[in-house]
Amino acid sequence: MDKEHVFFENYARNWDRDRKADASILSSFMTLAGIRPGSDILDAGCGTGVLLPYLSAATGDEGRVEGFDYSQQMIDVAKEKFSYLANVTFTTGDVLKYAFLKKHYDVVCCLNFYPHIAEHSRDVIRRLYEALVPGGMLLIMHDMPRKAVNAIHGGQPVLPPVDVLEEKLISAGFSVVIAMDTEQFYFIKVVKTADESDFVYDDEEQPDHRTARALHHAYHHTETKRVLNRLSRITGHVEAIKRMIEDGRDCSDVLVQLAAVHSAVAGVSRVILKDHIDHCIVDAICEHDADAVENLKKAINTFVK
Ligand SMILES: C[S@@+](CC[C@H](N)C(=O)[O-])C[C@H]1O[C@@H](n2cnc3c(N)ncnc32)[C@H](O)[C@@H]1O
Repeated sequence: MDKEHVFFENYARNWDRDRKADASILSSFMTLAGIRPGSDILDAGCGTGVLLPYLSAATGDEGRVEGFDYSQQMIDVAKEKFSYLANVTFTTGDVLKYAFLKKHYDVVCCLNFYPHIAEHSRDVIRRLYEALVPGGMLLIMHDMPRKAVNAIHGGQPVLPPVDVLEEKLISAGFSVVIAMDTEQFYFIKVVKTADESDFVYDDEEQPDHRTARALHHAYHHTETKRVLNRLSRITGHVEAIKRMIEDGRDCSDVLVQLAAVHSAVAGVSRVILKDHIDHCIVDAICEHDADAVENLKKAINTFVK
């Protein structure tokens, strides 16, 4: 057992006394996650199980939640607190070694867990990716701001800025749906792409109906995967805003989120425009394609209006 493992074994009985989870933030996480009833959920690094009642309620009688932790003491405390939840089971195991069944879970949650696997993040992300069904979601959540998390870890940057973690998750094959790093919390929701070829839009993957010209241009685009990921993220963000409105959330909170979507849309437009100028237009000028240059002028006019 390494030092950190021993630390958690010894701390388990006092964990809830010293580390009060923020109920309103955990509820917001459930809203943002949008877990479907009937989901099969893994709570990785569940500790004393603070998230288990929320996950149990979200998935309902048809679903299943597995609290997973390498600390037997943490699991014992969680069992004592939540064995009455009929859809919850417990597993003691190390996320770095445990033989998870492939394509098994619909949702994997990591609440306040990432810093403990940060050193092995590539390996753990790959294992969790394989354990998810296609289309399944991975949630990385902290009910405190990133700065506070890193301060607890002696100022080490164990929890990176969302864009850094996003890149890691994207390179593992996930699509980012929501990524928020706020004054109160840190929340990332990514989805295992149903069929990676839907997202990796390179020359070999072009749909048949596209024209030769479109094929030519797509070949030269370098930002397609990034653009698709950004758009998936915006779509997820808009869905989360819809749920905020359905839940009667404060208008000012909704407006802040809408402003974030607005700037995300402007950002993705800039990426596409730059890609277009860098590639298609350079080609068009070389090929004396006056139509393409004229179309670019129109696109810029629409964009800057
Ligand atoms: C900071 S606690 C978070 C617990 C709980 N999710 C919460 O938010 O209260 C991190 C938990 O991860 C567990 N853990 C750390 N490394 C692990 C590993 N490699 N495999 C499984 N569990 C691990 C620890 O035992 C501990 O319970």
